[in-house]
Amino acid sequence: MVPRKAGTDWEILAPAKLNLYLKVLGKRSDGFHDLDTLMVPVQLCDQLRWCPENSGRPVQAESCSLTVDSRALNPGPSLHSLNSSENLVLQAAHLVAARIGRPPHGHFQLTKRIPLQAGLGGGSSDAAATLRLTNACWKAGLAESELAQLAAELGSDVPFFLHSGPAICRGRGERISTAAGLANLHFVLVKPSFGLSTAQVFQEFSSSKEQIQSSNDNSTARLTSLIGALQAGALSTASRWMTNCLESAAARIAPEILCIKNLLADAGCRGQLMTGSGSTLFGIARSARHARWIARQLSAQSMGTVLVTSTSW
Ligand code: C5P
Repeated sequence: MVPRKAGTDWEILAPAKLNLYLKVLGKRSDGFHDLDTLMVPVQLCDQLRWCPENSGRPVQAESCSLTVDSRALNPGPSLHSLNSSENLVLQAAHLVAARIGRPPHGHFQLTKRIPLQAGLGGGSSDAAATLRLTNACWKAGLAESELAQLAAELGSDVPFFLHSGPAICRGRGERISTAAGLANLHFVLVKPSFGLSTAQVFQEFSSSKEQIQSSNDNSTARLTSLIGALQAGALSTASRWMTNCLESAAARIAPEILCIKNLLADAGCRGQLMTGSGSTLFGIARSARHARWIARQLSAQSMGTVLVTSTSW
């Protein structure tokens, strides 16, 4: 994720992620949960552009603005301006501006391709991309350690996207270690018509007995076995170690989750799993061509939006 200069503008790609492994180790006193997760970035991505002016009109010197183009996600016109700091792009931009003690400025254009409330990390990736972009276009000069600190303030998944590349994330998600040498993987994704709230899925999980079961597991050994299998390109072995302990909680909120998981298996995928806190399910195909073939079969089932993507590193 490196910002690129395009004339007076700057742009950057913000990839989605998939969790190939997710264990919740316990609830913390701050209300968050300690995790042990393996995340990989994929080619499906949003695009963020920053320009010093908004369509020829200079933007206010002491503020920045954002236009979101969601036409790839929603049929019909879906181009809107956001000035509130609810969006993670604006939040990240304001955080950088506050850190360097200068007012934010310019206009951001966000092209959304990553579905929302999908467990694909779209909002978090946009936030990490904004940190990188503003550090470049505002010549903020923040060090990696300062960016990492801002990333952790913005959300649990943001540090992963700042790191870039496959990684094991621990703690709330902010303790990152690189998972090097993984074979490339090809995925089929099914995003149901509904999304799931991360907070709601964690709440459902922590009110169930699954929490105790998962924290008693030997997670590190299992994760090490999974990474070994993925480095060797041994898909069948890898799929045996893949798990997401939030899946049952999500399926209690939305039982369609399990139907889609079964459909992915029936269609010939390996290692079918929910990503993050859902609602997207994914499966691994033998090749990009195999993924496209499975996607064509699944599109006929009308269970949601079917996408294909591959790892990106
Ligand atoms: O950090 P983020 O804003 O993505 O988290 C959204 C919600 O998900 C949190 O408010 C919390 O309820 C839950 N969460 C959690 N433990 C984590 C990550 C998220 O409980 N490690």
